[in-house]
Amino acid sequence: MKADVRYEEISENLLRWYAANHRDLPWRRRRDPYAVWVAEIMLQQTRVETVIPYYERFLARFPTLQDLAAASLEEVLKAWEGLGYYARARHLHRAARILMEEHGGSFPQTLQEWRRLPGVGPYVAAAILSIAFGQDLPAIDGNAVRVLARLFAVQEDPRRPAGRRRLQALAERLLPPGRAGDFNQALMDLGATLCTPKAPRCPECPLQAFCAAFHQGNSEAFPVRAPRRSLPHYDVTAGVIQDGDQVLIAQRPPEGMLGGLWEFPGGKVEPGEDLKECLRRELREELGIEVEVLEPMMTLRHTYTHMRITLHVFRCRWVGGTLQPIGCADARWVRIQELDRYPFPNTDRQIVERLKEDFEAGQLSRERL
Ligand code: ADE
Ligand code: SF4
Repeated sequence: MKADVRYEEISENLLRWYAANHRDLPWRRRRDPYAVWVAEIMLQQTRVETVIPYYERFLARFPTLQDLAAASLEEVLKAWEGLGYYARARHLHRAARILMEEHGGSFPQTLQEWRRLPGVGPYVAAAILSIAFGQDLPAIDGNAVRVLARLFAVQEDPRRPAGRRRLQALAERLLPPGRAGDFNQALMDLGATLCTPKAPRCPECPLQAFCAAFHQGNSEAFPVRAPRRSLPHYDVTAGVIQDGDQVLIAQRPPEGMLGGLWEFPGGKVEPGEDLKECLRRELREELGIEVEVLEPMMTLRHTYTHMRITLHVFRCRWVGGTLQPIGCADARWVRIQELDRYPFPNTDRQIVERLKEDFEAGQLSRERL
């Protein structure tokens, strides 16, 4: 560490700014570990504005650890529907049951114990212990990474181990004893409101006098990013098989990507296969049925953490075979008006919305006849 850096002054300025300017966020009104834990899990991969309504509904629906542990996974996934990264919901639910069964319904007070729970990484563990228990631990989220990288003009990529370690050491050095919760959240708020990725508002920033990137005149050059490989792309098909007011949906296996969610059955196109062949094969493998693939219904694009997909949705007609859930956890005929009861990934939710619109339009025209 450089001897001339005024660490104490930096944190004093930061805390003073936070006291006057912190955002009024719902998880800051309730400091108990349960509320902080749920918020931090939701906030890990989702923006604050998106999280707020989900957080409020989730806490109204499952106000305590006991309520969450007593709920079914399906209820929890339903409350999570639309937030994405559903492993977070499954882990939260499993961790709640572990806390009830193995910790007598109380919350751990060490990093090691928190880290043993599903879905709890170093950031979340430190955030909970600092915010809810006042422990002197830095919790560096994406916003805090940006602020620290600029403040100290950090040359390493923070996604690499050397960069991570550097930011961790700087945050530990800055951390004002007894004030870690506010300190961590102040870095997050500064990153979210002033020290933004593009066009940071340095003239209004309480840390400007200390900021190495600002003095170099290149704030936006930090954090330094080693070039990222582009994500692989896949074509995927899904089939809508309708019989009167019912459609066939399948539940994904409990483990793995989007585990436990419901979907319109289908899968990835294999090399040399066309879209319709793919869909016929997938429905045969997954459900043991033979279909005729009819007209395309919609095309959706979606980006996941590790891949991009184009989802080609077709209407299909069942022409043979007996329905058996071979490559899925379950398969059911469900009335279109009742699809809302099932948790779907974002892509399939858009298919549900289209089916509901078409169904309601069909009903209206029948009523007019
Ligand atoms: N992002 C992650 N955790 C947060 C928190 N506690 N407050 C604001 N933004 C956050
Ligand atoms: Fe970020 Fe600018 Fe403040 Fe430096 S001076 S911390 S770059 S907002």
